[in-house]
Amino acid sequence: MKITTTVAETRALVRELRAGKRTVGLVPTMGALHAGHLSLVRAARAGCDAVAVSIFVNPTQFGPNEDFTRYPRTWEADCALLEQEHVDLLFAPSAAEVYPVGASTFIEVAGVSDRLDGASRPGHFRGVATVVAKLFHIIAPNKAYFGQKDAVQVAVLRKMVRNLNFDLELVVCPIVRDPDGLALSSRNRYLTSEERKRALVLSRALRWVEDGAARGTMDAGQLIRGALAVCSEEPDVRVDYCKVVDPDTLEDVSDISAGALAAIAAFVGTTRLIDNVLLPSSANR
Ligand code: PAF
Repeated sequence: MKITTTVAETRALVRELRAGKRTVGLVPTMGALHAGHLSLVRAARAGCDAVAVSIFVNPTQFGPNEDFTRYPRTWEADCALLEQEHVDLLFAPSAAEVYPVGASTFIEVAGVSDRLDGASRPGHFRGVATVVAKLFHIIAPNKAYFGQKDAVQVAVLRKMVRNLNFDLELVVCPIVRDPDGLALSSRNRYLTSEERKRALVLSRALRWVEDGAARGTMDAGQLIRGALAVCSEEPDVRVDYCKVVDPDTLEDVSDISAGALAAIAAFVGTTRLIDNVLLPSSANR
């Protein structure tokens, strides 16, 4: 695995990887890698000739009172995991390399960026879209891999790729869960063992929604009320939002017959966790 830290050396290496018309798959990450990230790397390995991973804890996607300085940084362990996956290129730039002094160009994907997590974390998706667009320009991948766990990020980036004519395929991989249902997240490391037990209420609430939909409940309001009732079993978990929306526009839907995204965000202690489930259209059920 070659490790690069500058844009120039990364571009040179990508040119080499591409030689002979090899396709390149990119997995953008902020490190603190877990099995969810590795599922993206494996999907990239299966779908492309060469695999590039980026590790960059992007300051512009953190709000002033969020966990940027605390965000887990596990460089040695991340490198070992990526070596085992035979990743070809690891791009790990400094903040100054990504945002040189005077950088003042940002990408706003209007509309979707202000919904769900975007409403709770103003400016977050401006930071995400900007850094991902930069990675797309630097590495110019044929395919880029993201996890469905970040459903809002997926909607924002899909729109950005469409609107800015990026010549790549965005591949979305399923959520990876621990055996008890907790969706994997780098932020799970913040949870105490007691909090981790409480956090299971998120996936329990979504399972309730999924079961309700499978039994034929099409009314989104009813599904949301049921999910909130499940969440109230854990009074120490503070729900930020619990919504049923169109997966592309992220606008609320009242009926799920055409398919929908059920998404939840909640604070467990001081840790904000997200989870979601895609509800198939009744035609595909
Ligand atoms: O999903 C993440 O880890 C980040 O939002 C991303 C896509 C790497 C951008 O910093």
